[in-house]
Amino acid sequence: MTFSNYIFDPRIAFADTLPSDWYRGDEILRIEKEKIFARTWQLVGRVDQVASVGNYFTAIVGNEPIIVVCGKDNKLQAFSNVCRHRAGPVAKGSGKRNVLQCSYHGWTYSLAGKLLHTPEFDGVECFDKANYCLPQFKVETWGGLIFVNLDVNAVSLSAYLEDLPNRFGYHNTPDLKLAARKDWYVDCNWKVYVDNYLEGYHIPLVHPGLNRELDYGKYEVETKRYYSIQHSPIKENATRLVKGQENSNPAQYFWLFPNLMINVYPDNFSTNLIIPISPNKTLTVFEWYFRNSENEEIKKEVERVVKFSDEVQIEDIEICEAVQRGLDSHTYYQGRYSVKRENGVHHFHALLMEYLQK
Ligand code: FES
Ligand SMILES: [Fe+2]
Repeated sequence: MTFSNYIFDPRIAFADTLPSDWYRGDEILRIEKEKIFARTWQLVGRVDQVASVGNYFTAIVGNEPIIVVCGKDNKLQAFSNVCRHRAGPVAKGSGKRNVLQCSYHGWTYSLAGKLLHTPEFDGVECFDKANYCLPQFKVETWGGLIFVNLDVNAVSLSAYLEDLPNRFGYHNTPDLKLAARKDWYVDCNWKVYVDNYLEGYHIPLVHPGLNRELDYGKYEVETKRYYSIQHSPIKENATRLVKGQENSNPAQYFWLFPNLMINVYPDNFSTNLIIPISPNKTLTVFEWYFRNSENEEIKKEVERVVKFSDEVQIEDIEICEAVQRGLDSHTYYQGRYSVKRENGVHHFHALLMEYLQK
């Protein structure tokens, strides 16, 4: 092993944080992709991208290129996007097809993943097309979002989400449409970014603007089996966040293990998908969902919300990249958790250890 042994203490008051070498090196990331990203429900796209028969899009989960397609029976299917011939891509980008044709030598598969045609393959012995179907993965939806799980033994998405859909409140995702998207590359390990998201401890110093909007004294982090939720009332005199009716809609920040964040405000929600690119490079994909986003007034609101989010994200990127540099220090190995403020980070590390050990 090229990273150190870590004994995780489930008692936060006694626990040491993750060792610094867990945030560096190819080996830990290789294991995380195999044991975590390939075994958890991963957000891959939206139902409106595959609304009719033959619509498809491609994505990558862990190390697996995948295709999500609306099949002939109008049901969503997820397949490996790796041709069974010599591993070419069966589909690229997104679009609409009657059959899926590999762009290398033209092997063709049905929308159900069955191998149909193999050009110029006469004379090949002991070859049964039935043995060369595209491997299929679990695919499920919640609201307008599509999730895939590469693990055939995984619990269902609804079991994985527990009561999260109820807590999501009136934000019934199919009503809200994608209004904006932004990709950010951050020079840090994916866990540095997730750790940072999971505590409000840094808000007063890192996000002075956000701190003026949220009631930090009432900020709380609640942990469930596979997700956690941070909530905070929006202040009476907030000017940049929209307050809910009668103060009943606090800002809610959901995190679903391992790499999805859903930020819920009274008038919109956004997803942040955290994708490791290399041990110290991470892609964060931000997507905002609004009602009536074609409306001119709402468009202005989207712009305003994205601008405020950019400000907070730039502050987070700066601190995450500084932390990554700190983790390279020879004098730092591991630290401790605040019992009051870092239970969400400790919960993430508990799940991380659970998955790495099973
Ligand atoms: S790799 Fe797909 S047809 Fe050859
Ligand atoms: Fe932050």
